[in-house]
Amino acid sequence: MTSRRGLFHSVGSALLVLGLSACSDPTGLELIPAATVSCEGEEPLSAQKQASASMLPGRVCGACHRAGGQAANSPWTISGTIYGSKDGPCNSGGLPGITVEIVYAKDDPKGLYRVDELQDGGLLKTNESGNFYSTRRFVSPMKIRIFEGTRANPGRQAQMIKLVGVDENGAPTTVDCNACHYPNSPQLPGSSYGRIFLPMQ
Ligand code: HEC
Ligand code: HEC
Repeated sequence: MTSRRGLFHSVGSALLVLGLSACSDPTGLELIPAATVSCEGEEPLSAQKQASASMLPGRVCGACHRAGGQAANSPWTISGTIYGSKDGPCNSGGLPGITVEIVYAKDDPKGLYRVDELQDGGLLKTNESGNFYSTRRFVSPMKIRIFEGTRANPGRQAQMIKLVGVDENGAPTTVDCNACHYPNSPQLPGSSYGRIFLPMQ
């Protein structure tokens, strides 16, 4: 009995190792509706299904990168994808080299920071697929701006007017950028919004 169980165990872990390394999907990644709702009807390219910084652009990173999620090892505090247009294709429309700026939306009651000051780690740059992400701890609510170029000398830029992290009543909300930002999202006020995008000039 004991030896049978031992055998069963080792076969089980051998399969696990095989499953992790041999199939097209080395992460054990499973595309779940909560992650793909923002790119409905668009199948990711196979390279985009590999675990990497440029994986699954446009999808809701935090559906997996959270405590208890598929990517619980790397829970992002902020993550998303920036596009060249409000309805750009998820797989190919991302913009590299754009900065996401996260500043305080309020003065700290203890005087440690002031409104509009840059938060610690609050400059994130998009990579080749347009993705950005962080594990830093940010203070909600936050004010968000995106820009190309430098902070002192930005080119195109866009400001989110609402604060991220709270609703109108001050109750906490998701900070997962791609969870709100996609065409026809119920979280957006109308058809002039969609993906996070830098308007053409
Ligand atoms: C369907 C689930 C899922 C979604 C959605 C997802 N990821 Fe991942 N990601 C994973 C898994 C699984 C791993 C590997 C395990 C881990 O790192 O925790 C991973 C790993 C990563 C890694 C680490 C790779 C490495 O080399 O260690 C980065 C960076 C990453 N993802 C970024 C993102 C970004 C940015 C998004 C959103 C645009 C995203 N992921 C969306 C499941 C997902
Ligand atoms: C809870 C939903 C929600 C979340 C989460 C959210 N946004 Fe927004 N965002 C909105 C809404 C609604 C607007 C349009 C009104 C406004 O500007 O406040 C908007 C507008 C924007 C705009 C201006 C329009 C554009 O795309 O150029 C930018 C830039 C932006 N958001 C970036 C971000 C980034 C970056 C994140 C993640 C840190 C984020 N948003 C998270 C709801 C959200």
